[in-house]
Amino acid sequence: MRFLPLFFDLTHGPVMLVGMGPQALAKLRILKAAGALVRWHVLSHDDVEVDETEGVDLRIGLPTSEDFLGAVALVASAGAATDQRLAGQARAMNLPVNIVDRPDLSTFIFPSIVDRGDVVVAIGTGGTSPVLARRLREKIEEVLPERIGEFAGLMGRYRERLNALRHRGFSTRQFWERVIDGPIGALFLSGRSAKAEAALIIEVDRAGLGSPQQGHVQIVGAGPGDPDLLTLKAFHALQSADIVLTDDLVSSAILARVRRDAEIVHVGKRKGQPGIGQDAINSRLIAEAKAGRNVVRLKGGDPFIFGRGGEECQALEAAGVTVTIVPGITAALGCAAEAGLPLTFRKESTRLSIITANTAAGAENIDWSGLADRSTTVAIYMGLTAAASVRDGLVAAGRDPQTPVAVLARGTRPDSRSVTGTLSRLPALAAAAGEGPALIVVGDVVAHSRAWKEAVELLEMAA
Ligand SMILES: C[S@@+](CC[C@H](N)C(=O)[O-])C[C@H]1O[C@@H](n2cnc3c(N)ncnc32)[C@H](O)[C@@H]1O
Repeated sequence: MRFLPLFFDLTHGPVMLVGMGPQALAKLRILKAAGALVRWHVLSHDDVEVDETEGVDLRIGLPTSEDFLGAVALVASAGAATDQRLAGQARAMNLPVNIVDRPDLSTFIFPSIVDRGDVVVAIGTGGTSPVLARRLREKIEEVLPERIGEFAGLMGRYRERLNALRHRGFSTRQFWERVIDGPIGALFLSGRSAKAEAALIIEVDRAGLGSPQQGHVQIVGAGPGDPDLLTLKAFHALQSADIVLTDDLVSSAILARVRRDAEIVHVGKRKGQPGIGQDAINSRLIAEAKAGRNVVRLKGGDPFIFGRGGEECQALEAAGVTVTIVPGITAALGCAAEAGLPLTFRKESTRLSIITANTAAGAENIDWSGLADRSTTVAIYMGLTAAASVRDGLVAAGRDPQTPVAVLARGTRPDSRSVTGTLSRLPALAAAAGEGPALIVVGDVVAHSRAWKEAVELLEMAA
């Protein structure tokens, strides 16, 4: 590392900028954005546009020795010979100097910047590759929440009050970690800043009274299996967890993205073994949060679609534990995308019903009457072993036995398989798809899927 990243307050004296052209103008914009007092040396008035000079001390001609006195930095892009001479002058006066694109003549360089107000990320490559720095900046821009700078500002306003509690052994680090990773952070970053500040004030007051800090629970949807289908929010939750209570549906590739030091507890049914049961899960979630831990309850797909997220939410709220929900890509969306299967289709398929075949009364007692209409696509969860009942129920309700169907097994995972055919053959298709989890899709939209078209091509080749 040749250049140490430091944050420079440029508001206390003039920064000399020498030169014109796009590079000098780019530096002018950055310096102005940082609130610098810019003294801009150009060769003539004709070289500059009026709006560029706003708020700038414009000087005609190169800087004299007197101009160097009192300046806080020099930035130049004025041609090789002039730049070299200016750099020598600045160095002789111990003045920080940046010659554009000449790290060898510079004592500081401009990093690529992600600017979110109070939060600024600087990326440097030691002047070797500004293009690489820009690429990295784009990647950071993507993952950095839009309101992160305002969020830092909010925390800054309460920092002193919290610091005053340090003498009592109060951990400000833990406090702010919980604010950032917990519901207050989630509220603020999702745009509900007033509500977030109200919640923060309550927490600051509680801390002042010496009340113990409480953890919180995030119920997180892990998506159907492909770890790249995790949302950024889900990824952040996994990275901030102290403990993760996970269902069996969650793939090992996703669990590999959990923070390394976090405890992972499997609470779902696993390979024929019963899980610990819903009541025990609720009690554990409550106990862990009350012990002050950041708890993630991780579920396949989306927590609010056949995921019992609603029940867990109620139990936690009843126990006074704060809870946030992080949605996930539900199996129907993930599997359909993978199979190239549009779940609706203009004019043809205008309704999507998401149902489960795993009801207390059994699949044979489901009321299928509302799902017989041709314009309805039916996505059936937990229907693999009840495929015969699904077919019988839909056909009895009036659905055409020739309706296209797809069985999408282990969707978005490396061993995924899609099998297509008609409703009359659903049990055989389910058997051909192999092990679950699997989703059944019934409707004309299936004929538009890649999986269907590939099967037709194979039949034609065999004929
Ligand atoms: C208890 S439900 C959970 C649903 C989950 N909350 C969701 O939003 O996808 C389990 C059922 O979801 C469906 N499912 C989940 N993951 C799947 C996958 N990767 N491929 C196909 N179906 C899946 C299957 O029908 C499975 O029996």
